Amino acid sequence: MNILITGGAGYIGSNIYLSLFNNGYNPIIVDNFSNSDTRRINELETLTKQQVKYYECDIRDIDSMEKVLKENDIVAVIDAAGYKVTPESVTNPLKYYKNNTNGIIDLLISMQNANVKKIVFSSSASVYGDAKILPVNEESETNPVSPYGTTKLQSEQIIKDLVKADPEWSAISLRYFNPLGMDKSGMLDDYSNNMTNNVYDSIREVIDGKRDHLDIFGNDYDTVDGTPVRDYIHITDLADGHISALKRAIDNKDAFEIFNLGCGNGVTVLQLKKIFEEHTHKEIPSVFQDRRAGDAPVSYADITKAEKVLGWKPMHTLAGEEITVE
Ligand SMILES: NC(=O)c1ccc[n+]([C@@H]2O[C@H](COP(=O)([O-])OP(=O)(O)OC[C@H]3O[C@@H](n4cnc5c(N)ncnc54)[C@H](O)[C@@H]3O)[C@@H](O)[C@H]2O)c1
Repeated sequence: MNILITGGAGYIGSNIYLSLFNNGYNPIIVDNFSNSDTRRINELETLTKQQVKYYECDIRDIDSMEKVLKENDIVAVIDAAGYKVTPESVTNPLKYYKNNTNGIIDLLISMQNANVKKIVFSSSASVYGDAKILPVNEESETNPVSPYGTTKLQSEQIIKDLVKADPEWSAISLRYFNPLGMDKSGMLDDYSNNMTNNVYDSIREVIDGKRDHLDIFGNDYDTVDGTPVRDYIHITDLADGHISALKRAIDNKDAFEIFNLGCGNGVTVLQLKKIFEEHTHKEIPSVFQDRRAGDAPVSYADITKAEKVLGWKPMHTLAGEEITVE
């Protein structure tokens, strides 16, 4: 079954590609390489020992996307193309609205034109913003505190309205919490051109000797140690969540559903640092910096819905070990 994965050369998209391949699907990539390059295509070819079919194309190029969808008999799209750096969205909101919000509109138009009406969308926990009641479930209030989070909420609303207007559509929005780690081979890391200052990547860079310390943004939050709380989820678990969601979106009609994908545990930045210090037996020096614009103090998920409805649950520790079920 041919599945189009937009943003497939990116961190999450390439890990989804691998999960799709391992589950017997035939994934095809579209990426404009704005935050990635063909190195990732070569890595996927090494891992799968097969040629990877990909198109260098922007999801906002409606005509080209329609052609790609038609000529490959695409059954469903997983849309992981988008910008993701929260602080950058605060300083440059138009960049985010132009790519993320316009991007989903144009992608849906090309899908509609090609009569491909199944989509799994990469959303984000940032739609919840500074949640008052934790953990957040899919019914929790949405109140994004950054333009990035707003683009995700807008995208969900646009998809929802489309499903309402045309019952042939079915869509699933996956609200990712904080993905980290790599696939088993260690190849499919987050190799963005951006310095995202993502906690996990910074930790890894310190361990690999590429940075001399970890910057921790804010140590005066109302949390056990003052640092922000996040729900980190191993990338392989996150990628595998798309398989169950995809099956459901393909079987469904006239349905728009939302699922949280996280671990269901809140972990502070200092606790995450300790997990990796213990795992690698290396000290990770850190420096406290001011709070960062657009960061919510505490965010972690209730994942009961994904467990019950999708039959999915996280199977890896944050350090990447597989959890064995007795
Ligand atoms: N990484 C995270 O922590 C996280 C958390 C929640 C949600 N998300 C969402 O998941 C998706 C994937 O994130 P990622 O971490 O893999 O980011 P990434 O930057 O590694 O991958 C995104 C890919 O999309 C491509 N792209 C961007 N705009 C495009 C466009 N207009 N047309 C075609 N390709 C385009 C980029 O070149 C890149 O390869 C994004 O939508 C992001 O917002 C990410």
